[in-house]
Amino acid sequence: MNRDHGGAAAASASPIEITSAPVRVAILAEPLVCPTLAADLVTRLKLVPITETDTPDYTHYLHLTTERLELREQSSGTTGPLYVDFVAGRAAHRRRFGGGRNQSLARAVGLKGGISPTVVDVTAGLGRDGFVLACLGCTVALVERSPIIAALLRDGLSRAVRDPEIGALVGERLRLVEADSREFLSLLPESLYPDVIYLDPMYPHRRKSALVKKEMRLLRQLIGDDGDAPDLLAIALTRAKRRVVVKRPRTAPPLAGPEPSFQIATPHTRFDIYPTNHH
Ligand SMILES: C[S@@+](CC[C@H](N)C(=O)[O-])C[C@H]1O[C@@H](n2cnc3c(N)ncnc32)[C@H](O)[C@@H]1O
Repeated sequence: MNRDHGGAAAASASPIEITSAPVRVAILAEPLVCPTLAADLVTRLKLVPITETDTPDYTHYLHLTTERLELREQSSGTTGPLYVDFVAGRAAHRRRFGGGRNQSLARAVGLKGGISPTVVDVTAGLGRDGFVLACLGCTVALVERSPIIAALLRDGLSRAVRDPEIGALVGERLRLVEADSREFLSLLPESLYPDVIYLDPMYPHRRKSALVKKEMRLLRQLIGDDGDAPDLLAIALTRAKRRVVVKRPRTAPPLAGPEPSFQIATPHTRFDIYPTNHH
């Protein structure tokens, strides 16, 4: 799948088809935003800068406000912006009340007693699961291949490291790598193999809550489905020292490949666990 969503490319070629709709992303910086910050994003993401929201050539735009970076849908009056916020909102709530090391995600990666594994989250997305794992003590490399999602994540992390409460934790335990994880894992030196590799690929019909639905819809418009997830699982199984964990909707079949050894299910989600024991 073509993952270049740049308006510059779209202006000279036919628009890129992602699922059913063509996606064209521009970038809009608020007047008071530092010009070098905006210019850096334009160059890095190869997006066309616009000055008004109502620009019909684009389906989405990245909105750089003085506070944060947001992804917005052009035509939708109802959909709110997509952005990463580890300091407040759902992430903060889950950090305080999410069940600590007893929650299913923690059990899935093998957080027991004092053990805090090193994790490569090879489908970082908006970094939610990776952040939860970091809060529970894991050191997490977040690998994301979509340049736009990676930009949102980078922005969320840069605000989080400045927060007095979680800044130190985020700075010490979370690291973002913008890359395709299949390549990242294949180039990883053996001395850096992680204890756990975590996969949460996009799945065609998942989770129904209104909030997640909105975010998933935006993510899906931008990224499509991760049809190459079985390849990612195959290479992950050769790189994880202890286990590979795959998050799936509860009723979905496991990813194509070897059968998971065991599963941990919650009402909507299931974690498929593949012990590796390469250490
Ligand atoms: C469902 S989202 C993950 C959500 C994430 N677990 C969270 O908590 O926010 C899947 C993400 O994985 C990324 N992805 C899928 N395959 C990848 C690959 N081979 N390398 C890097 N990123 C990948 C997609 O671009 C997408 O952002």
